[in-house]
Amino acid sequence: MSADEIFTAFPTLSTPRLTLRQIRTEDAAAVFGLFGDAEVTRYYDLDPFTEPLQAEELIERFQRRFDHRIGLRWGLALNETPDNLIGTCGYNLWVQPARRGLVGYDLARDHWRRGLMAEALAAVLTFGFTAMGLNRVEALTFPQNTASKSLLDKLGFQAEGLLREYEFIKGAAQDMAIYSLLAGERSQ
Ligand SMILES: CC(C)(COP(=O)(O)OP(=O)(O)OC[C@H]1O[C@@H](n2cnc3c(N)ncnc32)[C@H](O)[C@@H]1OP(=O)(O)O)[C@@H](O)C(=O)NCCC(=O)NCCS
Repeated sequence: MSADEIFTAFPTLSTPRLTLRQIRTEDAAAVFGLFGDAEVTRYYDLDPFTEPLQAEELIERFQRRFDHRIGLRWGLALNETPDNLIGTCGYNLWVQPARRGLVGYDLARDHWRRGLMAEALAAVLTFGFTAMGLNRVEALTFPQNTASKSLLDKLGFQAEGLLREYEFIKGAAQDMAIYSLLAGERSQ
């Protein structure tokens, strides 16, 4: 699949329990609920949302990244309730010449620890390594973010090391753990 095709019509993916689809303006209330939860944004470069407008702006930012062919962020919904967004997941960055993608993901707290993000991310990785032709998928996570690190371990990512004081988040320099999964490792 070419980048032209991918960026012409937002690709919908499905898994046994989930639909991964474009995030729409109608999802603003759900996005507000998701990013209004301090547990969800704990390791993010943002404070929990307090204004519905912040959710609308985030949806616009996701859309702009798609329109500018920089990223692809899917909204996650359970198959039986496709209009009810429960999380997001996808490529914050697709560096096409390097065949490299950077993933990010978040899920509403009510749905944690049911294997849902592992299921969603597996589909996103399959799409990345096949349709997008990626060679390397990477993820950056706070070293203290046990859930995120366990998810990456489960999907076969390798921890590459610690990026020292890589981000300045919530008033302090923060180390970030870097993980990667290569196309050649995926089928092993
Ligand atoms: C990270 C996150 C998306 C994980 O979603 P999830 O659907 O609960 O994860 P899964 O149920 O698919 O779990 C995947 C693996 O991680 C493990 N895991 C998940 N949450 C965990 C936790 N809090 N502590 C320890 N292990 C955890 C699971 O046990 C599972 O491994 P296993 O099957 O070998 O036991 C979710 O915790 C979240 O939204 N966190 C807030 C946002 C965030 O921090 N995003 C990442 C930024 S880098």
